Amino acid sequence: MKIVMLGAPGAGKGTQAKMIADKYSIPHISTGDIFRANIKEGTELGLEAKSYMDQGKLVPDELTVKILLDRVAKDDCANGYVLDGFPRTIPQAKVLKDALEKQGDKIDFAIDVDVPDENIVKRMSGRRACVTCGATYHIEHVPPKKEGICDKCGSELILRDDDKPETVLNRLKVYHEQTQPLIEFYTNEGILKEVDGTIDVKDVFASITSILG
Ligand code: AP5
Ligand code: MG
Repeated sequence: MKIVMLGAPGAGKGTQAKMIADKYSIPHISTGDIFRANIKEGTELGLEAKSYMDQGKLVPDELTVKILLDRVAKDDCANGYVLDGFPRTIPQAKVLKDALEKQGDKIDFAIDVDVPDENIVKRMSGRRACVTCGATYHIEHVPPKKEGICDKCGSELILRDDDKPETVLNRLKVYHEQTQPLIEFYTNEGILKEVDGTIDVKDVFASITSILG
């Protein structure tokens, strides 16, 4: 099963993608997480990606597409995957479609997690992320057992650099301009499914599993 998660920054793509990956035993692939891991390791890719991410801009397609295609070519992707944060532009979606078509393959579901802009800024300031394993929490809605510490690996939790309110507003603008057109793209492909992302995390997941089966 190959799934694409769509939705504004902070809609809950990562939260739901991790739950999907666990339930269906497929890898969760987040281009944002790949970039953040590179930033942490101080690689050249990380350095370049950071200059865009800190401004809330998209990393250029050439760079992003190569990373994603390399990742989905790995053995663990043979039975499918859930993509979180990719594609984010129409050209990215087209490259993915063409690459899959060459193998006689396709994306099965594009799930749009719908959350209005008003809810987003509030959500982001409460998000805490684990720098080591990528787990995500929310100080009110999804708190860790011990404040500031990751339940899964015991590392410190941080507020992401790009979760400052002014950067979030820019990310939302970029989302509406460059990523939202993918809703029409996948509607035309006949695979778009929309879920309400404003309800409880468990209820969003229930809507998704009723779609995926
Ligand atoms: P990326 O890491 O993908 O960030 P994003 O799309 O902005 O999305 P987020 O990770 O911020 O939000 P999310 O939807 O995953 O929400 P989450 O589950 O954490 O990308 C970062 C940057 O990398 C981009 O800006 C860009 O520069 C670059 N980049 C990445 N991919 C790229 C690409 N393909 N092309 C070009 N550039 C790219 O949830 C948010 C918070 O809400 C959490 O605290 C969570 O606990 C809470 N929450 C979740 N669900 C609920 C709920 N139902 N109710 C209450 N709270 C909830
Ligand atoms: Mg995410």
